[in-house]
Amino acid sequence: MTPVRVVPSILSADLTCLGAQVREAAAAGADRIQVDVMDGHFVPNLTFGPDVVRAVRRAVPELPIEAHLMVERPELFVEQFAEAGADYVLVQVESTTSLWRTILAISHAGATPGVVLNPATPVEMLSEVLGEVSLVNVMTVEPGFGGQAFIEAMVPKIARLHALAPAVEIEVDGGIDARSTPLVVGAGATLLVAGSSVFGHAEGVAAGIGALRRAAGDAG
Ligand code: DX5
Repeated sequence: MTPVRVVPSILSADLTCLGAQVREAAAAGADRIQVDVMDGHFVPNLTFGPDVVRAVRRAVPELPIEAHLMVERPELFVEQFAEAGADYVLVQVESTTSLWRTILAISHAGATPGVVLNPATPVEMLSEVLGEVSLVNVMTVEPGFGGQAFIEAMVPKIARLHALAPAVEIEVDGGIDARSTPLVVGAGATLLVAGSSVFGHAEGVAAGIGALRRAAGDAG
């Protein structure tokens, strides 16, 4: 059985000390770090570019980095993010008319491609590319902002994807905390992206990661 892994998202980190924050997450057993890239068009928010990936890479050379591109025409940027040190480059299926070419470009640039589904996008949108990717992220909020409420209607969608493509790793992203974790893990998710419940945890980053791990164990 694939172990459940915790992927803190730096969107909710204290950016005045990003290096210290990701090092704290690494020391607490984070499995990967996610960098949320937003362009103000695909989502109504602006965040990080390749230089931030480079900075995280320097701060935690031992951890894989995921760049989640919430940008229009991600094919224009995938090489820059791979070159900056992203081990995984994730693109939204809704953001490009050239998904196939974009997936190949990510592999060609030396990173592992992943695809991301917005809440309203059916898993069937992936039917032709499932053989080309090992990671699918099911958004459990509308992308754009941290701290939103988990959309529970995504649980059967995760289960449907798991049944359709049992070899594909399912990642979830948005509103993941100790309450939602047993639901998503029970449906087949093995990668938990979490911002607020890790970097915003009242007792600190290690407590946040520990709570997610315990909740994942509880899902049996
Ligand atoms: C949403 C981002 C998420 C976000 C999750 O657009 O893709 O990664 O940071 O944040 P929380 O865990 O606060 O919902």
